[in-house]
Amino acid sequence: MYNVNCLNNISSKGTDLFSDAYKIDATFEEADAVLVRSAKMHDMDLPASLLAIARAGAGVNNIPLDKCAEHGIVVFNTPGANANAVKEHVIASMLLAARDEIGGVEWVKENKDDADIAKTAEKAKKAFAGTEISGKKLGVIGLGAIGQLVANAAIALGMEVYGYDPYLSVNAAWNLSSKVKHIVNVEDIYKECNYITVHVPALDSTKGMINKAAFDMMQEGTVIINCARDILVDEKAIVDAIASGKVKKYVSDFPNTASVNMDGAIVFPHLGASTEEAEENCAVMAVQELRDYIENGNICHSVNYPACDMGVCATAGRVAICHKNVPAVISKITSVMGDAGINIEEMSNKSKNDYAYSLLDISRAASDAVVEKLSAIDGVIKVRVVK
Ligand code: MLT
Repeated sequence: MYNVNCLNNISSKGTDLFSDAYKIDATFEEADAVLVRSAKMHDMDLPASLLAIARAGAGVNNIPLDKCAEHGIVVFNTPGANANAVKEHVIASMLLAARDEIGGVEWVKENKDDADIAKTAEKAKKAFAGTEISGKKLGVIGLGAIGQLVANAAIALGMEVYGYDPYLSVNAAWNLSSKVKHIVNVEDIYKECNYITVHVPALDSTKGMINKAAFDMMQEGTVIINCARDILVDEKAIVDAIASGKVKKYVSDFPNTASVNMDGAIVFPHLGASTEEAEENCAVMAVQELRDYIENGNICHSVNYPACDMGVCATAGRVAICHKNVPAVISKITSVMGDAGINIEEMSNKSKNDYAYSLLDISRAASDAVVEKLSAIDGVIKVRVVK
């Protein structure tokens, strides 16, 4: 029996996919696997039993990735599973920034007792008029699953789209409309675009990337949309940029003490991925990733360990080894197997930054003694008998 703990509400469309071999109401302290959405895990003590964490969503800034890797805990996310929801939210954000639809709706509410409202509205409406997004320039910074959908949708809405992503994957490039202008220098987005939307992960290297220098390059009246993470935008600098007129509107999905007090900001309570469909898609993907890892040792969409897929084990045994990405670990693993008279039928070794993962299909199941010897190898973090 595998113990699964859900740190947040996870759609039953996903949890229903666990077989009878899983107990899905286990405590965190006894968990083999954890499902999480936004719960902050940085200060939590990770139980020794924990094999994997699946984040039902894209952002993983609530999870201590390095600490998990150090303990041989594989962290997964669900890239693309909520991308359509976020894309629709970004498009809505642009439309709300282009016209004062929110102000207009407020006006109607405030004047609901006016018996002559139909007539008064015709006079009042000019205060809420705006512009169209068709024909305007949109800069998309980050062309992952969400950015590419936003770029393509904006093209379909008649916008001129500039796309910037120094790490563009081949898949993303295939999916991107050929009408998206490939921008090599992000400064060209700052200088040229009327709307700028950011879709990059929150990392030390991206923190505050939309800063004073970026605002200084922008045209008067630029709209900034941030449905990624609040720390990407320097919120002191954007207050000045709004005051100076460089930025007309800041549409943020992240309420905090700075954004909620900003004139010229439209702030949502992190609604981007909050659709039934997205929550279901994320839960399904997260559970599939966990099951494939626990039952087969395969890793798909991990953010701290490399991808590794050997399908379903067809030999007598399979061993999964999380280890440091350092020389000579593989040769020591194969020596332990050889010394035990175990033949390695198939093997995959993959690395990602400081960490590596080896999956071995072997001629007989690894005994406790073999596991002990493998675990003692310098650089080995966790050894697991999958079969
Ligand atoms: C994500 O990171 O997937 C989105 O921000 C939505 C969420 O946090 O659930």
